[in-house]
Amino acid sequence: MDELLVMIRNFKYTQYSFSFFLIGLGLYTVNTVYGDTIILPCHLEVPNDLMFGKWKYEIANKPSEFIAFRSATKKNIQYDDVPEYKDRLSLSENYTLSINNARIGDEKKFVCMLVTEDNVFEQATIVKVFKQPSRPEIISQAEYLETEQLKMLGQCIAKDGYPEGNLTWFKNGIVLQPIEGTVVIHEQTNIDQASGLYTVISSLEYKPTKDDTDAQFTCTVTYFAPTGQETIRSESAVFDIHYPTEKVKIQVLSQRNSIKEGDNITLKCSGNGNPPPQEFLFYIPGEPEPIRSSSLYALIDVRRNATGEYRCSLTDESLMDSTTITVHYLDLSLTPSGEVIKQIGEALPVSCTISSSKNATVFWLKDNTRMRSSPSFSSLQYQDAGNYICETTLQEVEGLKKRQILTLIVQGKPQIKMSKRTSTDGSYKTVACHVEGFPKPAVQWTSSGGVINKASNFLIAFCKTEETKYINGKFISKIKIAPEENVTLTCIAENQLERTVHSLNVSAISIPESDEPEEKSTCSILRVELEK
Ligand SMILES: *[C@@H]1O[C@H](CO)[C@@H](O)[C@H](O)[C@H]1NC(C)=O
Ligand SMILES: *[C@@H]1O[C@H](CO)[C@@H](O)[C@H](O)[C@H]1NC(C)=O
Ligand SMILES: *[C@@H]1O[C@H](CO)[C@@H](O)[C@H](O)[C@H]1NC(C)=O
Ligand SMILES: *[C@@H]1O[C@H](CO)[C@@H](O)[C@H](O)[C@H]1NC(C)=O
Ligand SMILES: *[C@@H]1O[C@H](CO)[C@@H](O)[C@H](O)[C@H]1NC(C)=O
Ligand SMILES: *[C@@H]1O[C@H](CO)[C@@H](O)[C@H](O)[C@H]1NC(C)=O
Ligand SMILES: *[C@@H]1O[C@H](CO)[C@@H](O)[C@H](O)[C@H]1NC(C)=O
Repeated sequence: MDELLVMIRNFKYTQYSFSFFLIGLGLYTVNTVYGDTIILPCHLEVPNDLMFGKWKYEIANKPSEFIAFRSATKKNIQYDDVPEYKDRLSLSENYTLSINNARIGDEKKFVCMLVTEDNVFEQATIVKVFKQPSRPEIISQAEYLETEQLKMLGQCIAKDGYPEGNLTWFKNGIVLQPIEGTVVIHEQTNIDQASGLYTVISSLEYKPTKDDTDAQFTCTVTYFAPTGQETIRSESAVFDIHYPTEKVKIQVLSQRNSIKEGDNITLKCSGNGNPPPQEFLFYIPGEPEPIRSSSLYALIDVRRNATGEYRCSLTDESLMDSTTITVHYLDLSLTPSGEVIKQIGEALPVSCTISSSKNATVFWLKDNTRMRSSPSFSSLQYQDAGNYICETTLQEVEGLKKRQILTLIVQGKPQIKMSKRTSTDGSYKTVACHVEGFPKPAVQWTSSGGVINKASNFLIAFCKTEETKYINGKFISKIKIAPEENVTLTCIAENQLERTVHSLNVSAISIPESDEPEEKSTCSILRVELEK
């Protein structure tokens, strides 16, 4: 009761100090972080004759509300029954009031009153509460954006801050200012009724260009903290930017630079849009209609008629590109070819002609030896026989090589020429049978009507017959004899074509022959005894 009386008495002073306060002198401010304890020093000098101290708060246009009392004389403390401050207050001996668990509702003007017998001293303190919002997040992010289309990119949200923060959008670190039809920003603030905290949301509608591929979008929340303005930045978000194809490209995928008959070719068509087009039309020479296909189109085992212009376009037949393919070829024709049998002395015209997509050179091989010029025969000789190869290559086209073979066989009936001579020491005579013919003729010797062999019982001595090598259809069969009397020797040469016989009179060993020059021989003479 005492306190009340004193208060009534001092009413005029209360009014006075209140107007004093309005002038703005002696106004203190306490900044507190949400949830912390608000510490409100009284800021008044405690008078010696203090009876009691009191704390109240004031809200504009409302009667002030007392919340705490402390008697200086009785040392007792009393907290008023204000539900908002139940169990939250603590008034210390020096009249400092502590309010725990600071809330937004604590943003008020608190007044410390010190009352003496004949005076009332008052001091007001403003309480400010700060709550840092959550780190902003970009939510409801678009799966992709499209050029030329204004689309919702996402929403930036910063939750539960106080006082209300501001959101700002950034692209690659640069502030996004609203631009009509391109950058559209809508802000919205929600207050949680229970806590009084603000959740701010900013939605961004954005019309991208191709250059926004890989652009980093962020947003920040700027808020007031007890120490001043602070900013928190969100994680960055990158968006897939869809844009239409502006160019198509056709490519030939081939292992080599040049294409030849028999190769497989893959055509690849691509577009520069995002996402890239998956389907194309291929225009293939000789195909009446374009062919719908994925980006790859394969041509198997191409022929020369595949040479031409290949094109591809988008499926709506717009945006075309073309490429020219040349399929190289090389034809070789040898006439005659294969196995050819001709008679000696005959003429044989030979031709090797080529037809190719590029200049090609021809060369000839005879029995694996390079020839200087192409063969042509006006009169065939035995030495003309052999394996002829006409070969050609296209230098620029790897692996393009053709060859054909002519196997020439020159046939001839056996021809015989005979000769004889006497050895220098006069002990024997050599008779030679020069044989020409193809296939190789078989040679037989006879003497005066009988075949000469080891068992023959003629009046001659003989060495075995000797044969030279069969070269170019020619060879020599020789026989060495030492006849006791004049004798006629016959050389018989025979092949599939004919049997040819030739004879020569050889006089007795005592009569020398002088038809041919001397010739060395390793043959030793056997003397055959005449059997009676
Ligand atoms: C008042 O008392 C409190 C607790 O006893 C102390 O922390 C504070 O420093 C004192 N304030 C003044 C102004 O003396
Ligand atoms: C938010 O923006 C408003 C208006 O632009 C400005 O008055 C206020 O100070 C800003 N608040 C913060 C925390 O930056
Ligand atoms: C071409 O493709 C066919 C079938 O896929 C294959 O059999 C052939 O070996 C290929 N030819 C070449 C030259 O790669
Ligand atoms: C090309 O020639 C081959 C035979 O060499 C034939 O099968 C094919 O039909 C021809 N293609 C065109 C388009 O004329
Ligand atoms: C082929 O060779 C001839 C003569 O050597 C030359 O005149 C011509 O230009 C060549 N053609 C090509 C396609 O190289
Ligand atoms: C053997 O031939 C020679 C001539 O070469 C001749 O002079 C001689 O009379 C002939 N002898 C006999 C026995 O016929
Ligand atoms: C070989 O001798 C015979 C007689 O012995 C004779 O008739 C023949 O004409 C002679 N031949 C030659 C080519 O001299």
